[in-house]
Amino acid sequence: MSEPEAGQLEAAVLDAADELAACRKLFALEEGTVYLDGNSLGALPRSVPDRLADVVEREWGRLLIRSWSESDWWNAPERTGDRIAPLLGAAPGQVVVGDSTSVNVFKSLVAAVRVAREDTPAGQPARTEILVDAATFPTDGYIAESAARMTGSQVRAVPAAQMAEAAGPATAAALVNHVDYRTGELHDPAAATVGVHRAGGRIVWDVCHSVGALPVELDAQGADFAVGCTYKYLNGGPGAPAFLYVRRELQPRFDSPLPGWTSHRDPFAMASGYEPAEGASRGRVGTPDILSMLALEEALRVWEGVDMAAVRAKSLALTDFFLTRVRAHVPEGRVTSLTPESHELRGSQVSLLCEGELRADAERVMAALHERGVLGDFRRPGVLRFGFTPLYTSFGDAERAAAALGEAVRAVEGER
Ligand SMILES: Cc1ncc(COP(=O)(O)O)c(C=O)c1O
Repeated sequence: MSEPEAGQLEAAVLDAADELAACRKLFALEEGTVYLDGNSLGALPRSVPDRLADVVEREWGRLLIRSWSESDWWNAPERTGDRIAPLLGAAPGQVVVGDSTSVNVFKSLVAAVRVAREDTPAGQPARTEILVDAATFPTDGYIAESAARMTGSQVRAVPAAQMAEAAGPATAAALVNHVDYRTGELHDPAAATVGVHRAGGRIVWDVCHSVGALPVELDAQGADFAVGCTYKYLNGGPGAPAFLYVRRELQPRFDSPLPGWTSHRDPFAMASGYEPAEGASRGRVGTPDILSMLALEEALRVWEGVDMAAVRAKSLALTDFFLTRVRAHVPEGRVTSLTPESHELRGSQVSLLCEGELRADAERVMAALHERGVLGDFRRPGVLRFGFTPLYTSFGDAERAAAALGEAVRAVEGER
C-alpha cells in the first residue's frame, strides 16, 4: 500500500469511529471543499437560511414593530447569551450578546480597572497598570492603550505564561487571550487569574479562539470578565455580534464606560439620568443587531446535546493527525509548526510557518491550496493557518488538506 493510500485508510478508520461525525450534516458545506477556516468564519448551519427568511418576511415584514415584544426581539441579547453560557462554563444570567469583541474589550477593561481601584484601600499605592498578553490580537492591544489613557494607567505587555508573576501592587487589570490567534497556542488563563487576583487586580479573558473549540470554565476558574466572537467556532455568520461575560458577583459593580439607553434600568422611561439595569443587561449599549443576533441564535442549535469533552478529544486527534500527515506529504524542511506539539498547549488550529525561500511564497502556497479546494488562511510573515472545527471537519478532510499542501508546495517551487 502506498503512503497516501495508508493515510486515506487511516482517515477512514478514524472517521468511522468519530462520535461527532453526524454533526457535519447540520452544516451546508459543499462536497469537494475542505473548509479549514472555521477559526475565522464558521460554516453556515443548514437551518439558518429558513430562520432568517422567517425573521425578515414575517417578523419584520408583517409583524413590524410588534416583533420587539411579540417575537421577543427585545430580550434576544440575554436569551442568546444564555445559549452560549454552557459553552463558556457559565451559569445563566451572566452573558449578554451584542457589539463587537473590540467594543466588549473596552467595556470590560475599563470596568475592571474601576473595580480594582474601588477595592484598593486608601493609603495603598495607586493601581496604574494594565497588563496585556504580549502576543495579543491587535485590537485588544490598541483598545487597552486607549483604556489606559482614559483611566490614567499604562499598558505593560507580558507573555501570557508570565502574567501571574508579572501582576503586582500596581496592577489594576489584565487581559489574556485563551488561545493565540496566530500560533494556535493554548494559554492558561486560570493560572493568570490566580496571580492577578492575588495581586488585587481583575482579569478579562478573550476567548475568541477557544469558545466552541474546547471547554472554557469561566465560573469554575474565577474569570472576572470575558469577551469573545461568535462568527468563528460558534458559526454565527459574518460580523455576528460578540458576547460579554460579567461574573455574577461583579454585576452590581459593573460600571460600564458605555452606558447606553438599552442598559438602563427602565429604558422606556427615557429618563435623563442613567440608572444601570441589574444583571447581564448592564453590558448592553444600544439597539441590538436583531438580524445577525437571530441568525446566531439559530446557529447555536447545532450545539444541542454536544459534549465539549468529545469536541476537545476530536480537535486534538484531528490536529495530531494533520501534523503527522503534513510530515508525510510535504517535502522536508519546507514548513515548521508554530503550534505546540503538547496537547496542554494546543488550541484547535495548526499554524505552519513556511521556511527558507518558501517564506516569501507563502501567500502563493495558500492560493494554490484554495485552487485545490482546501480553504485555510495566510498571516504574515509566511504563516499558513488551518482551523479544525470538530463539528464538521473530518479526518478525511485533514488527509486531503495535507496531501494538497504537499502538491501546492511542489507547484509553487516548480514555478520559480
Ligand atoms: C482574539 C481576538 N480578539 C478580538 C478580535 C476582534 O474581534 P472583532 O473584530 O469582532 O471586534 C478577534 C477577531 O478576529 C480575535 O481573534
